[in-house]
Amino acid sequence: MDKSGPLFRLLVTTLAVISCLTFGEAQPSPKVQKRISAAIKAAGNDTNLDYTKFVNVFIGTDNFGDVCPGASIPFGMQVKFSTDLTGYAPAGYVTDPTQKIRGLSPLHDSGTGSSLGTYGNFEIMPLLCPGGFDTCTTTLETRERLRKNNTDDAYPGYFSQTLDNNIQMEATSTRRAGLERFTFPSGSKPYFVLDLSNDLPSSFVGGQMDIDSAKGRITIGGRWGSSFGPGSFNYQAFACYDLLDGGKQALDEFGIWRGNQYGLDAKGLGKTHLNLTRSLIGDQYQSGALFSFSGKARQVNIRVGVSFVSTEQACQNAEEEVGSSSFEEIQTKSQGLWNDRLSKIEIDVPNTPHNVTELLYSSLYRASLTPNNATGETQGVFADTNHFYFDSLYCSWDTFRTFYPLMSLHSPVEFAQIVDSYVDGWRKNGWMPECRANNLPGWTQGGSSADNIVGHFAMNYHNEAAELGIDINDLYAAMLADGELNPSEWDIQGREVDVYKQYGFVPFSVLDATVGQQTREGSRTMEYAFEDFAIRQVALFYRNVFDPDVKSDGFSGFAQKRFPNGTFSFTDPADCSPNDKDDSRECSLQEDNEVGFYESSSWEYSWYAPHDTAHLITLMGGNNTFIKRLDHFFNAGYYLAGNEPSFQTPIGYHYANRPSHSVDRVRQIVFENFDITPAGLPGNDDQAAMASLLAFHLLGLYPVPSTSQFLILSPFTPKFTIHNSFLNTSTTITAKNFDSRSVKKSIPEGIAAYVNQVTINGKKTESRCHFDFYDTFRLGGDIEIELVADGESVDDCAGSLPESLSTGGWSTPR
Ligand SMILES: *[C@@H]1O[C@H](CO)[C@@H](O)[C@H](O)[C@H]1NC(C)=O
Ligand SMILES: *[C@@H]1O[C@H](CO)[C@@H](O)[C@H](O)[C@H]1NC(C)=O
Ligand SMILES: *[C@@H]1O[C@H](CO)[C@@H](O)[C@H](O)[C@H]1NC(C)=O
Ligand SMILES: *[C@@H]1O[C@H](CO)[C@@H](O)[C@H](O)[C@H]1NC(C)=O
Ligand SMILES: *[C@@H]1O[C@H](CO)[C@@H](O)[C@H](O)[C@H]1NC(C)=O
Ligand SMILES: *[C@@H]1O[C@H](CO)[C@@H](O)[C@H](O)[C@H]1NC(C)=O
Ligand SMILES: *[C@@H]1O[C@H](CO)[C@@H](O)[C@H](O)[C@H]1NC(C)=O
Ligand SMILES: *[C@@H]1O[C@H](CO)[C@@H](O)[C@H](O)[C@H]1NC(C)=O
Repeated sequence: MDKSGPLFRLLVTTLAVISCLTFGEAQPSPKVQKRISAAIKAAGNDTNLDYTKFVNVFIGTDNFGDVCPGASIPFGMQVKFSTDLTGYAPAGYVTDPTQKIRGLSPLHDSGTGSSLGTYGNFEIMPLLCPGGFDTCTTTLETRERLRKNNTDDAYPGYFSQTLDNNIQMEATSTRRAGLERFTFPSGSKPYFVLDLSNDLPSSFVGGQMDIDSAKGRITIGGRWGSSFGPGSFNYQAFACYDLLDGGKQALDEFGIWRGNQYGLDAKGLGKTHLNLTRSLIGDQYQSGALFSFSGKARQVNIRVGVSFVSTEQACQNAEEEVGSSSFEEIQTKSQGLWNDRLSKIEIDVPNTPHNVTELLYSSLYRASLTPNNATGETQGVFADTNHFYFDSLYCSWDTFRTFYPLMSLHSPVEFAQIVDSYVDGWRKNGWMPECRANNLPGWTQGGSSADNIVGHFAMNYHNEAAELGIDINDLYAAMLADGELNPSEWDIQGREVDVYKQYGFVPFSVLDATVGQQTREGSRTMEYAFEDFAIRQVALFYRNVFDPDVKSDGFSGFAQKRFPNGTFSFTDPADCSPNDKDDSRECSLQEDNEVGFYESSSWEYSWYAPHDTAHLITLMGGNNTFIKRLDHFFNAGYYLAGNEPSFQTPIGYHYANRPSHSVDRVRQIVFENFDITPAGLPGNDDQAAMASLLAFHLLGLYPVPSTSQFLILSPFTPKFTIHNSFLNTSTTITAKNFDSRSVKKSIPEGIAAYVNQVTINGKKTESRCHFDFYDTFRLGGDIEIELVADGESVDDCAGSLPESLSTGGWSTPR
């Protein structure tokens, strides 16, 4: 998901590079990379490695990766304690040293690319107020401060940043709570401002705050707007700040404040209550709490609980999850949870290039950072659900390709919980969620990509679905509702079903009389069997937007939007590609996106038929033209590494029976677009869609979404093991003849890197281009991928091609 569109993104990316060169201040602290490099160097072939030591949480915090480096546990409830910075900072933190810190706050998303930002509620900012209470700088504009350069530090479960006045802020967390530790320069009196009304997207519409000075507790909560959905929807959030560190600290002054940019700067010493409603004229006042501690304590510990239900529950969450535990205890616990996640995939660290180890574990880290587990913290139509509930499904269009297939390999229990939440969306709303964000429906990107996510689960775990808590009939009914029932608002609910079915494509400029709710009584089994058949046929509708007459750069046949009468509405296939000369063209959700594609060009989307690439080859004029066209796509600069529709394209050569070409292309793409620096992602991490794509590239596999098939590539590591603790299997893949000199943008002559032969538990596979989950990771054991140096000699599948519908594929259920 990238609301700004590729062109805008490329433009601002260039600017970011320039500003970086101008200022030359590197963030984070150089000690972060030193520590990681030392840990990788020290790692033996030990199976008890602490994988958290290889993670660089700052990858993707620059260059519009929008990654949040905040302290979190795996799948924490939006709880990622991080600072919020000025400027473009959708996830709170950014590396740009010219941006200022507004405060430290508990709720964030990661990798979402919402340009206005998301969450950032309940910011706290430590202050030095040498002139006393009334002189404290409480408003956003007056309290913002630069960081002390090159001191930012963070690792899984820990975040730290130091202000230019030498106050250090640290945080660690649990699922719904955390601890903050502030270290002040010696001799100073600790002051704090707590913000009720400001969040990152400035979406506050009212809320309350109460200071209980005897308990040393501030309860705070309110309503805010969506970061990626209709502005008319609001969500509620609450927090509980405990200030006394179990009696080890004492409050001195406390009160409330109000301010604005036009001179309002008022403080009320001793006042304890705020109740703000939606402002009827102009912007909301800024307001919140201001307090100080007795004495000249150097260190102040603050416990924070959050909830989406109530302030009472926020306090209870802090009591239950943190209690009287120390900062170190919570941090150690968090690190342990992270190590459990990261050790699901173990690699041969000593023989793997260091950057590959760092890239892989940092990607696996982000692939467990989201979505946010808000189970037991539900609101709106989900308030009383007894199902699991996950938020920040942001968006399913981004994550179905790689994120869930990666989870499917090693974490079916967690995957099933998320599938349960998707299916529950259908129960409560009538359709599965497409882009749930801030506990609210977000904008639809592709249609109902949830179908591909729950479909992927069903294809890979239907035998265990019941044991994993999934009613496969409900799952199927939810898919059918997405595919069959026209929602009143397909902008947020999914597909424009009726006209799509009527015409066999979504027509441009059509009268759409949407249907109301339908009931689903009776005869389900018989209906399902028939509709299943229909869904299979619908899967071939992609052909209906393919105009064979459109030409670009000498190639014919491109996807185009189409009028109801069947006439194609021409747009230049290069429009909205990186080669588009018009940088004011709208390419995203805007109504004046006239191109007909979402965040992509026709050049890019015309490759997209992962279920039927064989027929795509025919549409494009056969294998040779297809390969030439793929080469041209990459060489002429139409490819966008950071854009989801392009994820599978580099491996397209497999379908034309030229797998060595895919191996070369993937090496090139990884080295041209990813590295271990904060700018090391080619765009928004998109809720770790990119992290999981990179993880697959490094492991030499690519999952065909909604199927159990993997495409085989060349691993960047000699050996890795994937543990699946639900199936009780461990599968070790060995890249025989692996040579670390092949881990380069272009594979040097004479170095083994191309797949010659694949054996599964000693038995040769029938193709060197693909294998199936049911024959591999479900069974466990040993897979050997034998590599050779002569790519040309092995540049065919030596057996069947990967499956496609039109050549009889996907016909044997596993
Ligand atoms: C940090 O570096 C940036 C860029 O050089 C500079 O603008 C800023 O003033 C520096 N901050 C401090 C506190 O020196
Ligand atoms: C680790 O194991 C590999 C074989 O998988 C071996 O070649 C290598 O020498 C071992 N390295 C260390 C540091 O023990
Ligand atoms: C806040 O004020 C509104 C009216 O402005 C009132 O309805 C509501 O009860 C108040 N809430 C609290 C907690 O004081
Ligand atoms: C989500 O939270 C619930 C409630 O604490 C817990 O049972 C479940 O295991 C969590 N799931 C994940 C994936 O974190
Ligand atoms: C189809 O409809 C479009 C838009 O109304 C129109 O421009 C075009 O001429 C029509 N084609 C035919 C064959 O009538
Ligand atoms: C492409 O090559 C494959 C494998 O050689 C072959 O099966 C297929 O029919 C060819 N496709 C076309 C459109 O010629
Ligand atoms: C590792 O990554 C860093 C940062 O991108 C780069 O400078 C370095 O050359 C890389 N090392 C190798 C061996 O590729
Ligand atoms: C995996 O092992 C656990 C513990 O031994 C057992 O309870 C569970 O049934 C096993 N699961 C499968 C799918 O075999």
